[in-house]
Amino acid sequence: MDWRDKTLVVTGGAGFLGSTIARLAAARGARVRIIDAFLPETGANAANLEGVAAEIHRLDLRHDPLETALAGAEAIVHCAAQISHAGSEADPLGDLGHNAVGTLRLILAAREAAPDAAVVHASTRQMYGRARSLPVAEDHPIEPPDANAVSKWAAEQYWLLEHRLRGRPVVSLRLTNCYGPGLRVKDARQTFLGIWIRRVLEGEPFEVWGGEQTRDLAYGEDVAEAFLAAFSAPSGIYNLGGSPPVSLRALADLLVAVHGGGRYQVKEMPPERAKIDIGSYVADDSRFRAATGWAPRVPLEEGLARTLAWYRDRLPLYLRGQP
Ligand SMILES: NC(=O)c1ccc[n+]([C@@H]2O[C@H](COP(=O)([O-])OP(=O)(O)OC[C@H]3O[C@@H](n4cnc5c(N)ncnc54)[C@H](O)[C@@H]3O)[C@@H](O)[C@H]2O)c1
Repeated sequence: MDWRDKTLVVTGGAGFLGSTIARLAAARGARVRIIDAFLPETGANAANLEGVAAEIHRLDLRHDPLETALAGAEAIVHCAAQISHAGSEADPLGDLGHNAVGTLRLILAAREAAPDAAVVHASTRQMYGRARSLPVAEDHPIEPPDANAVSKWAAEQYWLLEHRLRGRPVVSLRLTNCYGPGLRVKDARQTFLGIWIRRVLEGEPFEVWGGEQTRDLAYGEDVAEAFLAAFSAPSGIYNLGGSPPVSLRALADLLVAVHGGGRYQVKEMPPERAKIDIGSYVADDSRFRAATGWAPRVPLEEGLARTLAWYRDRLPLYLRGQP
């Protein structure tokens, strides 16, 4: 797709993935508008928007009018969400508000203001629950292990309904664990890797819970490439994976090696966390690769090195009470 002079709206554009997608699309010549409420408990951070040419609309999907920000958009990437799994169990109604009500309000406003816009929705592999076998393809049963997976499933289904009933082009990407510059590193609210990175940079030990679970981590820029490529795929659901699977223990060793130092302790997963943990995961994303030609380009070691380099220069910006 030629992005020059196309108007792209990115919801959640101040967060980790939204800002990475916004940066790439703007560099390709798109006119980028960001809708984001800059919520303090998420990955939103003004530092994520460094060097991103975009119009910012500070709006909350749950209650603000969205039509002006959407007017005339040709493409929409929907990343805004409450993404903490433990957080969704602590406050399932709040989670539902951001993920289901917010998505539905966006859909209704887009009917009025951007009826022709194609949509790529950020979905999650979390809704599969514990994998019955690996790798996991799109026809794996849906068994949400937590409230967040339920609200994210609802959001995805609202978009797919919009495609079936109104013909809007919609691709839903069920993402694996993503990492890269722009992650929330203050705590483990977004991902365990965030707090690992913070601790390594601070010279403190980090905790590895379990350690034998495998993950196929996807680097942010590769994910951003996938979102833009997804606009050329037929409507539907696609898994998106990343680099070859590694155990969390191997990942911890690699992080320490890439940083050139660091310590960690392997601990049993706390019982509250174990209840909603999905164990090992590896995506079968062959459908998406076949539909778009996309493949991840940044090896894990290189991605970790780039991520550490980003935070080495900017850690205080990510630790203070953002935004
Ligand atoms: N990061 C991952 O590993 C991962 C994995 C699977 C799925 N996803 C999905 O990808 C998307 C982006 O995730 P991320 O990691 O960039 O998260 P993030 O927390 O960094 O970004 C989310 C952004 O959405 C904004 N937001 C949340 N609710 C909002 C609302 N009601 N109105 C306006 N803005 C709102 C926040 O302010 C934040 O900037 C999410 O939909 C998430 O479920 C991410």
